[in-house]
Amino acid sequence: MIFTIFLMMVAGSEARQSCTSNSATCNADAASDEAALLQAIVVKHIATETLHEEEGHGEADTFATPQDLMGDCDGKALMTTSSMTGAVYDEVVAAVENILFSELDQTCDGANCQVADWAGCVLRMCGHDFMDFHDGVGGADACTDMNEGDNAGLSACLANGEFGHSLKDLYGNFCTRMSLADFEVIAAQAVMSLLATEGEPKETLSAGFKANFHFGRTTATGDACRNSTHAEGSLILPNPALGCSEVDRVFVNNMGLTWEQATALMGVHSLGRASTDNSGFDGYWMDPHNAKKFNNKYYTALIAVSWCPEYNVGGNPNKHQWKRCDAGSDSFAWKEMMLNTDMCLAYADAKGGSLIASPDQPNSNCCAWVHSSIDAYNMTDVIANNNNSFCNKPCTDYKAGVCGDGKGSTKKEELAACCAFSENSENQGQRQKHCMTPGLGYDKLWTADAQISAPAVEYVRQFAADRLTWINVFLGAWKKSTENGFGGKLTPLVYVMERFDFAAMKRCDDVPASSWGNYGKGTEEDCKSVCLDDAACSFVCYNLESSKCTQFATCDTTPQDAQHNFTCWAKQ
Ligand code: HEM
Repeated sequence: MIFTIFLMMVAGSEARQSCTSNSATCNADAASDEAALLQAIVVKHIATETLHEEEGHGEADTFATPQDLMGDCDGKALMTTSSMTGAVYDEVVAAVENILFSELDQTCDGANCQVADWAGCVLRMCGHDFMDFHDGVGGADACTDMNEGDNAGLSACLANGEFGHSLKDLYGNFCTRMSLADFEVIAAQAVMSLLATEGEPKETLSAGFKANFHFGRTTATGDACRNSTHAEGSLILPNPALGCSEVDRVFVNNMGLTWEQATALMGVHSLGRASTDNSGFDGYWMDPHNAKKFNNKYYTALIAVSWCPEYNVGGNPNKHQWKRCDAGSDSFAWKEMMLNTDMCLAYADAKGGSLIASPDQPNSNCCAWVHSSIDAYNMTDVIANNNNSFCNKPCTDYKAGVCGDGKGSTKKEELAACCAFSENSENQGQRQKHCMTPGLGYDKLWTADAQISAPAVEYVRQFAADRLTWINVFLGAWKKSTENGFGGKLTPLVYVMERFDFAAMKRCDDVPASSWGNYGKGTEEDCKSVCLDDAACSFVCYNLESSKCTQFATCDTTPQDAQHNFTCWAKQ
């Protein structure tokens, strides 16, 4: 074990998250407060692998938890939530919604995308909280060492204000009602469901998150937090440079996910981007418009376009990532990238070894792409989900492999589109060498190190082909990840039946059964409790004359004719 001690000057490193040059809400005070708090931290770094870059991982001598940054609570701050109704959960979602859609600039281009940046930061905050689960400690306990290099950038949306807004502003209204640990999870669920594709994906996610959510996480502070978020002598959070061995260590071994779940969880990188100011990496995982949507484009981006290594990102000799190398991608107004921990889900290097972009790994200097017409790796729905585009070429008939100029494309033409850099480019030579393409059976030739992620190759294809398949696996992976360490201590949301104000009563439509009384006959109390027990029930009405109870899927805002002799309730 090599111990390295170095000074990490972090003042000014929060440029993207605290301010943008054209942001009216540029929070200079917050940035300087943070600079003061974090200045000149001595980081004790434990290098576990030669590829593990010097900056970014380590145990800081100063230590600040998210709770420390929340400031005073107007009342008694709850460390463990004792009770939570569905209505309070919805209040948090509404507060996050207000920031996302009313407070932030909705513009999204190569330079600026406030929604993607803010939402990405909130989601990453939660991920960094729960990814430290190991040996029964850690998990979603709102314990994150905010001064650790791995967490650079997170204090902006947490407390200091990213584009002038932070979770701290919202938490003041909830601190007497729920722990910060529960709050961070709900806020992350909120950004994902609010930014999901309208229609079934959004409904499935929102309903799934809420139905699965159990409260009761205790916020860890002080020594309890310090001990769980640092492991003596080894890293806890994943090191992106090391590829799938880190996905295996953190997601599979520590957090107990299956490879299918681990692959689904990586879809969080659908939101937001990497920045040289924070991690040293640079770019969106896809185009900026999609980076502010929570969708399955992460998976189509992995296999419906092509990737080549980019060494020394931003001039940093320790940072290597993947960049697009299909024809035309070099003229995008934004930058797209993948980390080694993303790429390894679908590819191995040219010789079947782990795919690690690094000048020290010559076999990884290859072009990663998938043929559009391999029987064993059916790309039809993947290309359809990629707006009928393959390696940046429109496909008129992707089923017949017709992309680009309209003629049936040959493997040679596909290669020219996918691994397109000219002989004169800095990527000279990459056209000749291919990373191991999924679907051609090469995964059987993968080395033991690369083999570890072989199951993910097919999951990537399935998730790219069908977003609901991904969402359903994701919901299970998310629940497991956010509940690790709290076994048996968490409770489902409590629902109450709230009577409509009769004068302003809403009209209910969409009776699921063909007639009134689909919940049968009984008393008013029976009617309320049968709805409470049915997860699908949102509204219920009781006919005082016939004693029939009817469930409604929706209630609109049309004023109800007050002559009717019934009582209705909304479940909250
Ligand atoms: C193997 C596991 C993971 C690795 C190696 C990894 C690595 C990274 C890196 C290097 C960045 C760039 C950060 C920056 O420069 O600002 C990033 C961003 C991000 N990560 Fe991860 N991550 C992993 C898992 C997760 C998980 C589990 C979550 C959430 C539950 C998550 C959510 C995000 C989000 C949303 C962003 C964009 C942040 C923004 O736009 O500010 N990641 N990740």
